[in-house]
Amino acid sequence: MEFSIKAQSLDKIVTDALILAIPANHQLTPEIKQLDGLCAQAISQLLKKGDLGKNLGNTVVLHHVTGIKAQRLLLINSGAKASLNDSEYKQLIRSSLKTLETLGVKNVAFAINQINLTNRDLNWALEQATLLALETQYRIKRISKDKVNTSSLQNVSFVTKGKTPSTTLTKAVHQAQAVGHGIALSKDLANLPPNICTPTYLAKEAQKLGKEWKLKVDVLEKSEMEKLGMGSLLAVAQGSRQAPKLITMKYNGAAQKNEKPIVLVGKGITFDTGGISLKPAPEMDEMKFDMCGAASVFGVMRAVAEMKLPINLIGVVPTCENMPDGNATRPGDIVTSMSGQTIEILNTDAEGRLILCDALTYAQRFEPKAIIDIATLTGACVIALGNEAAGLFANNEHLSNALKQAGDITGDRAWPMPLWEEYHEGLRSNFADMANVAGRAGGSITAACFLAKFTRDVTWAHLDIAGVAYRGGKEKGATGRPVSLLCQFLKQQ
Ligand code: BES
Ligand code: MN
Ligand code: ZN
Repeated sequence: MEFSIKAQSLDKIVTDALILAIPANHQLTPEIKQLDGLCAQAISQLLKKGDLGKNLGNTVVLHHVTGIKAQRLLLINSGAKASLNDSEYKQLIRSSLKTLETLGVKNVAFAINQINLTNRDLNWALEQATLLALETQYRIKRISKDKVNTSSLQNVSFVTKGKTPSTTLTKAVHQAQAVGHGIALSKDLANLPPNICTPTYLAKEAQKLGKEWKLKVDVLEKSEMEKLGMGSLLAVAQGSRQAPKLITMKYNGAAQKNEKPIVLVGKGITFDTGGISLKPAPEMDEMKFDMCGAASVFGVMRAVAEMKLPINLIGVVPTCENMPDGNATRPGDIVTSMSGQTIEILNTDAEGRLILCDALTYAQRFEPKAIIDIATLTGACVIALGNEAAGLFANNEHLSNALKQAGDITGDRAWPMPLWEEYHEGLRSNFADMANVAGRAGGSITAACFLAKFTRDVTWAHLDIAGVAYRGGKEKGATGRPVSLLCQFLKQQ
């Protein structure tokens, strides 16, 4: 998809469809009033008849309007308020794009400077609209004998006559495009079936990404993990025919080459059956999404490389499959993690933390400024926060606030959760340094407490994305979250 910025008056915009937001009270901005005058009151006549309806998001399309260059006008009701909040704005952009896509329109122009936003600037408006356009255009790569269906949308332009210099706006759109490409990559990987998207497949994808975006990629095999003492990660992998991999991707963009990196660690369970603590059958297919943390790391690496951010960033992806088998880990097995701490595995379905703890220990060899792990870690997090916010845990308030804020700006939100000492109690074991599960209560917190035991010496945050990384039911598919949260955070570094 191509994006452009047009600093022209509305009547001069050459496009298949010009999108105009019209308030419910029909108060037109001076520019739209002028446009109305040039096209023989086509707009105000229609409004008088009440065709735009009463509600935010109602649309109507006008064809063959004389006096203007646009082939169509799409009017969209922007509601009763003088300015729009974040979600109203997004709803407006989304429904206008959907409407035009249904009509098979290729080129659209947004009169984005005619919309008033509450507490948001034009940069933000452009970024969000760019992301929404890419989201609308996105199609799941279906595996089918039929030919692929694609979106009609090809060119999107933003009409932005205003004070902000166009270089700033162009940069905002370029960066949003990069983030959008990262989101699409993350979705593509996560939407793949688990028989294709195996740990080996992910390792190959990492190599490909490395070639394309000049990342240094390194893949550790099982034998090397054994040498490093990753007994916890290997305990999860041992029930599977698929070889485990530990993928590292390095992006070096900082002016000072040796600047300390930020390390992202993504859970890459390519399928989670639960292991011997087998999951029930209904919806088990959704456990192919148990590598969404890993997918988000791929997406962020791509986006950051395309944005050429002046930072050093490392992505670490521990990846394997959690299967039941004659050789699988039993409940009660005790393993030794790379940190030296021993773990009594009471429930083999709490496998995410088992692969992450070794990856978190490994990540510390890069002497990072901060480590952020991203994982579809617990069903309990879905119970706590639903499908809106990711759970945000951190051992550093500054990092926690920065991530929270990045989520608020992008709408890819995360919500802070506690890691108090008292919550650690449930992880006590009579036989080892810790158990891998506590009771049912506060399950997302005790899971995070488990990870905290491996990150005591480093600034660390954990995002539990079990509720936000994918949707089930009719809309089943990956969301690409939290790629935009993380990109926003990294842009601010
Ligand atoms: N991958 C699951 C968590 C999950 C559940 C993600 C639902 C998305 C939707 C994780 O490996 C898991 O099975 N966690 C267990 C932990 C429990 C055994 C302590 C859970 O949440 O039930
Ligand atoms: Mn599990
Ligand atoms: Zn899992």
